[in-house]
Amino acid sequence: MLDKTPHAFLLGRRCPCAASKQNVSSPRRRRYTSQPNFYHNRILEQYASQETKRVTLRQLTVFGRTLTEEKLLKSANYVRAELPVRLAHRIFDFQHLPFIVGTNPHIEHIYKLYWEAFETFRSIPQITTLEQNREFCDTVEHMLDTHLVAIPRLAMGVAESGVHLAAREADRFMNEMLRSRIGRRVLAEQHITLSAVFDGRESQEPHYIGIVNTRCRAQDVVQRCSNLASRVFEEAFGVTPPEVAVDGHLDATFTYIPDQIEYIIFELLKNSMWATLEKHAPEVLVQATKDSGAEPELHREDDTRPYRTSSGNAPRLGEAWAANAALRNVRGTARDPMIPTPEHLDMTGPSSSYTSSSVPSSSSTADAVTKLPSIRATIGSADSLITFRISDQGGGIRRDALSHLWSYSHPSKRKFLNFAHVPRLAAKVEESEHHVVPTGLKLGLGLPMSKVYANYWGGDIEVCSMDGYGTDAYVTLKVGNQVENLTYTGG
Ligand SMILES: Nc1ncnc2c1ncn2[C@@H]1O[C@H](COP(=O)(O)OP(=O)(O)O)[C@@H](O)[C@H]1O
Ligand SMILES: [Mg+2]
Repeated sequence: MLDKTPHAFLLGRRCPCAASKQNVSSPRRRRYTSQPNFYHNRILEQYASQETKRVTLRQLTVFGRTLTEEKLLKSANYVRAELPVRLAHRIFDFQHLPFIVGTNPHIEHIYKLYWEAFETFRSIPQITTLEQNREFCDTVEHMLDTHLVAIPRLAMGVAESGVHLAAREADRFMNEMLRSRIGRRVLAEQHITLSAVFDGRESQEPHYIGIVNTRCRAQDVVQRCSNLASRVFEEAFGVTPPEVAVDGHLDATFTYIPDQIEYIIFELLKNSMWATLEKHAPEVLVQATKDSGAEPELHREDDTRPYRTSSGNAPRLGEAWAANAALRNVRGTARDPMIPTPEHLDMTGPSSSYTSSSVPSSSSTADAVTKLPSIRATIGSADSLITFRISDQGGGIRRDALSHLWSYSHPSKRKFLNFAHVPRLAAKVEESEHHVVPTGLKLGLGLPMSKVYANYWGGDIEVCSMDGYGTDAYVTLKVGNQVENLTYTGG
């Protein structure tokens, strides 16, 4: 159902100027008609035409090292001025989606949230006192919390948009949304933490400046992630996980935001553990899936069938929306495999399918499992590069899956509909620790989101698959004075 709140006027999404530009530059923009919300869009344009003032990792640490009231207020005003500019860029991006995609309830919801945040931050006057800064921090914190729905709803919106959004466009849109989101959260969390430390409400952990750890130990990152991935694995399958052996430059330390690298390493280890089980003890995976009532996950990459959803509004919303889209007869029909239809969406699964306590009672299969081949995590450190290589013997990545590992739009990304079980997500490892992400639930976001995190400070992830044997994933982090990378250039 479309939202009919008073903010609906903001959803008209077209400034006349953009409408005139669109006729010249891009056919996809022509689907919009101009809307009467001229005033708001003029303001939006003013902000969207401004360049973002990107920060570097070094700036974050140098600035926060010795804080004074004057510096804290400077930081507050930087965040206050920067957030609406960054939000305006993204709102502009929403406005350039094909019209039909813009009417998807998930996309529309986030569009509205962004407008609200934009209006809030652009209305905040210059911050000149610590008291005003405290209020400002509360507002920022509230925004961070409210926007936890962004990843799940954007992912579901894109999955439901199917043929209405070209693959390249979907990838660019999601990539830039996620990068920008990371950027806003970094600025916000850094300022909130610095303020809390300055006020004496929080004590700064050793070697940290705000949310940045100036002595991040590569070995500790791997260890923490491997402990958690092992725990999650054991909870899901009731068998001993593959060991993770760490070697290479064990003493490598670097300046980084730990949350970001931990997310990446955790997701890679989790994938490696799952693949190792699938290759060497598929019966355990099948048994565990049977026990939990979910559909088997084996070889699903080329499978356009929907992922089991147990309950919740999201797929139903999507279903209604897709049906409307088909009625409007815009590029494609309800028979497109990407559009959920009632028979596609299996709503009958038990809602406990993916609960954190769904440890399978597959003791007979578990007992029969011999030791799974170990995973190797190698650390390399040279100049301003830190590399992690995660090698497994999980049989490699199927060839047909390799081409869309980083995609947000392939039919296999119907897994995004599983976000109906995860309505709020910050994309942090602690969410797996606290079962915000139900154990064993496949969301299809691990690799693409990890790449977004790696790219953000100029790094990257590559995977090399040896058919039938295993996979090597390489994460390269640039740890010098890296500037935020907010633009997706494809690939
Ligand atoms: N190390 C690996 N070995 C084999 N297949 C892998 C590996 N890593 C990823 N894959 C394949 O890529 C898919 C996408 O991974 P990911 O983006 O993490 O999403 P998800 O794990 O939720 O499916 C996995 O489902 C799996 O089929
Ligand atoms: Mg994964």
